[in-house]
Amino acid sequence: MKRQTILIIGVGSIGERHLRCFQATGRADVRLVEINPELRRTVAERYGVSKHYPDLDSALQEPPDVAVVATPAQTHIPIATRLAEAGIHLLIEKPLSTSEAGIDRLQSIVNAQKLVAAVAYVHRAHPLLQAMRQAILDQRFGRPVELIVVTGQNFPTYRPAYRSIYYNDHATGGGAIQDALTHMLNAGEWLVGPIDRLVADAAHQVLEGVDVEDTAHVLARQGRLLASYSLNQHQWPNELTITVVCEHGAARFEPHAHRWRWMLAKEETWHDESIAPLERDTLFITQASAFLDAVEGQRAPLCSLDEGLQTLRVNLAALASVKTQSWQTVGGS
Ligand SMILES: NC(=O)c1ccc[n+]([C@@H]2O[C@H](COP(=O)([O-])OP(=O)(O)OC[C@H]3O[C@@H](n4cnc5c(N)ncnc54)[C@H](O)[C@@H]3O)[C@@H](O)[C@H]2O)c1
Repeated sequence: MKRQTILIIGVGSIGERHLRCFQATGRADVRLVEINPELRRTVAERYGVSKHYPDLDSALQEPPDVAVVATPAQTHIPIATRLAEAGIHLLIEKPLSTSEAGIDRLQSIVNAQKLVAAVAYVHRAHPLLQAMRQAILDQRFGRPVELIVVTGQNFPTYRPAYRSIYYNDHATGGGAIQDALTHMLNAGEWLVGPIDRLVADAAHQVLEGVDVEDTAHVLARQGRLLASYSLNQHQWPNELTITVVCEHGAARFEPHAHRWRWMLAKEETWHDESIAPLERDTLFITQASAFLDAVEGQRAPLCSLDEGLQTLRVNLAALASVKTQSWQTVGGS
């Protein structure tokens, strides 16, 4: 297979991780664009990247095969559109954007140019979530009827700079809904189908130095299924539990315990499927490999542009629901 040339746009926190993880696949030659000159030089030096550019115009003088858009969310669509016009495949960080502006046009260019475009909802690369989803799709527990997501972590521990990055403002993709809950909403849609309508409550409770919400609750309907999602970004335990209750059993994803488990009707014990703890980069390396497979035509992307757009609509509906204190139909109709 041909080695792909990959351009990482923005090498802040997640961009640097993508750079390292695409390198780790051994299938890609990596370049980078970063508008912060000091960061550009430091990261280029750290990973031995000889082609590094101060802006997209210079990078596009020598177009790559693939680009990873890892800048703040409000810049994703304009950057992705320029890249698509140049015939470059796209892996775009979550959330896809902060509004639907320009996405129609991006989709038409992607379709016309026959490009692979994906959104980097990385939970879809988790081997345990993949296994649980397959069991649900195979109807091992019957029809899914309820989804319950409960999660939290101490965000400042993982992102000490949270006050001064995109996180501090909804306009740049900040707040718990667009930053973290969006991962859960996307995973929930992947497991049991799209969210049709929802009601949300959210507030700033704990995190110092910001006023965006750090705690969020959503009730949703996904077809006939009832769902609830609760998340905070301040609790000390770093835990995530996704339970799918089905007609003839229940399935539960618990990545902090390195397992997924299931219980069938009339049983009283869980059956566990466990794995060794994952390194933090592992899911991103899996995501990078899956994206390269998609570019080579071997598989569909883990999360398509359409699925990323659906979750963006859910984010926007959740924000609107908090503001209006009312149920919202996803997509606004
Ligand atoms: N999937 C995940 O687990 C995950 C984790 C963190 C962040 N993210 C997402 O990734 C995106 C970036 O987040 P981050 O935490 O890396 O932010 P960050 O602020 O650490 O990094 C963004 C970088 O982009 C650079 N940049 C901005 N505009 C640019 C442009 N036009 N051209 C080139 N570089 C530019 C900035 O200088 C900065 O270095 C956000 O959408 C965020 O939601 C995803």
